[in-house]
Amino acid sequence: MDEPSVTQLEQPLDDQVVAALVAVRRAADAARDPDDPPVGAAELVPDLFVDRPREVRAVWLATHDDAPVGLLVGGVSVDGENAGYAELEIDVVPGPSAAGTQRTLLRAALPWFESRSARTLAWWPDDATSRSVAAEAGMTFRQQERCSRVRVAELDDALLDEWTAAVDAQAAGYRLELWTGACPDELLDPYVAAYTAMNDAPLDEIDWTPEQYTAAIVRRSEEVAAARGVTVHAAVVVAPDGSGAGMTRIDVHPERPQLAHQEDTAVVPAHRGRRIGRWLKVANLRAVRERVPEVAIVETFNAESNPWMLDINVAMGFRPYRAYDAYQGPIGAVRDALG
Ligand SMILES: CC(C)(COP(=O)(O)OP(=O)(O)OC[C@H]1O[C@@H](n2cnc3c(N)ncnc32)[C@H](O)[C@@H]1OP(=O)(O)O)[C@@H](O)C(=O)NCCC(=O)NCCS
Repeated sequence: MDEPSVTQLEQPLDDQVVAALVAVRRAADAARDPDDPPVGAAELVPDLFVDRPREVRAVWLATHDDAPVGLLVGGVSVDGENAGYAELEIDVVPGPSAAGTQRTLLRAALPWFESRSARTLAWWPDDATSRSVAAEAGMTFRQQERCSRVRVAELDDALLDEWTAAVDAQAAGYRLELWTGACPDELLDPYVAAYTAMNDAPLDEIDWTPEQYTAAIVRRSEEVAAARGVTVHAAVVVAPDGSGAGMTRIDVHPERPQLAHQEDTAVVPAHRGRRIGRWLKVANLRAVRERVPEVAIVETFNAESNPWMLDINVAMGFRPYRAYDAYQGPIGAVRDALG
């Protein structure tokens, strides 16, 4: 097949482009997650286009004979400790041309990454074709990852009761607070302090620098979630001295509430070993189950090198769903490899 043509998209998008993006993502998801409800434009378009905190984004669409065949979304951190760190996601319509479409998209997007001063580019391929394209494009394997899922109907209520009781932590004076949407002002400092413990998540060979979380970044993340139409369900455990001991967060999109996303969970090192991670995760999941009865599946992503989080997840009922890899390469290596 001759090469697809690639366009960098500008907002506002016309209806045809929106339909093309949805068609590509649905085709990719049908191969990846065939039993999931299909994504719609209200979830997909803002997810692709809304800039994340400290990051700018851009989106490319590949078409062949007027049919949409692929999309690439790229993001570059533009300030903070990781300025110049860039990442991308590619979705292609499965088939014999998939690798070629991925390469063409990468080549088309590279000048934008360079114009935004990207110094390193990361990608999380989850099939053999994408892995080989990543390797050919100058990126190398950095970390083994696991996507896990749990069916809410199969959660063990006795275990949830035991973990929610958090007998030892509560006896020691820890308290748990839950909310949806923006973090209440009086919990913001504990939440920020707890969020900072995410920096201890294992990175293996990923080139990324631990970041100082701040109230401004948390507030900006909440604006991003709102702009994406995502409802954030979050929890914090406050230590007896009033400081933040741990946090967790589940995101739900009202257009596809069947599939919820367990996002970050972190416990501050000084407070680890009190089963606070378990308490946070089950208390928050229970709250989500009550608030949004349509939630059927919760999905989460972890490094295989994170036994602390994986142990909790497996004990809760999460099961491996899909393996994927982190690949990354210096931008110069990607440029040289793509030619
Ligand atoms: C995952 C995490 C939240 C679990 O913390 P927790 O709720 O305190 O864990 P537990 O109470 O189940 O701890 C069990 C044991 O593992 C130890 N432990 C927990 N996390 C540890 C870590 N990251 N490094 C070393 N030991 C750890 C605890 O000290 C405890 O030891 P003990 O049984 O000898 O007392 C915590 O490890 C963490 O914040 N990690 C960094 C952030 C992260 O990786 N988040 C997930 C990203 S996907």
